[in-house]
Amino acid sequence: MIKSLLAMVIAIGCTAGAVAADSTTAPTPPMGWNSWNHFACKVTAADVRASADAIASNGMKDAGYQYVNIDDCWQGGRDSAGRIQPNEKFGDMKSLVNYIHSKGLKAGIYSSPGPKTCAGYEGSFGHEEQDAQQYADWGFDYLKYDWCSAEKVYQRSQMIDVYKKMHDALVRTGRPIVFSLCQYGYGRVWRWGAPVGGNLWRTTEDISDHYDRMSVIGFDQDGLEQFAGPGHWNDPDMLEVGNGGMNHDEYVTHMSLWVLLAAPLLAGNDLSKMTPESLSLLTNREVIAIDQDAKGVQGRRIAAEGPLEVWAKPLTDGSVAVGLFNRSESTSPVTVNFKDLGLPPKVSVRDLWQRKDLGSFSDSYTQDIPRHGAALILIRIH
Ligand code: GLA
Repeated sequence: MIKSLLAMVIAIGCTAGAVAADSTTAPTPPMGWNSWNHFACKVTAADVRASADAIASNGMKDAGYQYVNIDDCWQGGRDSAGRIQPNEKFGDMKSLVNYIHSKGLKAGIYSSPGPKTCAGYEGSFGHEEQDAQQYADWGFDYLKYDWCSAEKVYQRSQMIDVYKKMHDALVRTGRPIVFSLCQYGYGRVWRWGAPVGGNLWRTTEDISDHYDRMSVIGFDQDGLEQFAGPGHWNDPDMLEVGNGGMNHDEYVTHMSLWVLLAAPLLAGNDLSKMTPESLSLLTNREVIAIDQDAKGVQGRRIAAEGPLEVWAKPLTDGSVAVGLFNRSESTSPVTVNFKDLGLPPKVSVRDLWQRKDLGSFSDSYTQDIPRHGAALILIRIH
């Protein structure tokens, strides 16, 4: 019965109205940090504590970053009762979570529905109920559930049931736990991620710290906006800001695009060794406010001229956030026409990265944008 109801919800094309994900759990896109992009399998409990310390003290917490998420490689084996154990790099998980909580932050953990995680550690296959309870007992607030070796034990057609099984187990613990689906967008997950209880779902294969990869992922999100909303978000993968593989303009593109996409903002760098420049990219309050706007509308491409693109995201107060992007190899002017946004001819424009009011404009606004760069502007009706 539940299965057929679920199938029905999926069949009618789950638009923002037809969702089962709990919108009180992630009313705005989750913000925080995740260990994978920088530390990968080398991560230790000390790195996680240092990240919590950094978020709590460097302005990130005040800017809205909340989750401190351990990705792959924390797992040891199971004890004789089948209970999952942390490995020697993590030791006492409960005390680590308590530490994160003591900083006023929340904690995230990672597993796979398969027998092994992507990095070959112990997965949850056959232990879903037990693992959900263990995460809740340790005090975790967020689970990223990564398909990986589930490919070897399930058919892809079983994915919906597999994810629903863990969601139901999490619900039974009675603890609110953000449920993050990671299966790289297979099977058009955006159509069924919310009905199986996902608060976010990866829409793509992995990001890397290169402009080409980041931009292909980000600019490919157009069209998925109809599936996102409060409690259920498309996830184009975690941030690479501060990891050093892109230049400043490219990271400006990364942040501008991710906030217009209402993407989860999970920093992926080493927060204990961050430059002031990376910190300011991650913590610009006006930029983050676009991502976290309560209306929860994911932005979309509204105009393109070859490698020059204009994206827009409508906001709660009637204003519109607009990104002017230059994907070409040299500086170029990029123009937004106000009629493309359904706006009246005369509006005011504020540059959110420069934190500067630019004045009133009629019909259109143009800015020179550097190679691989972006401007993020806020357009208000007079
Ligand atoms: C997959 C995920 C990544 C990360 C790794 C960990 O590749 O997509 O985000 O979690 O697994 O092994």
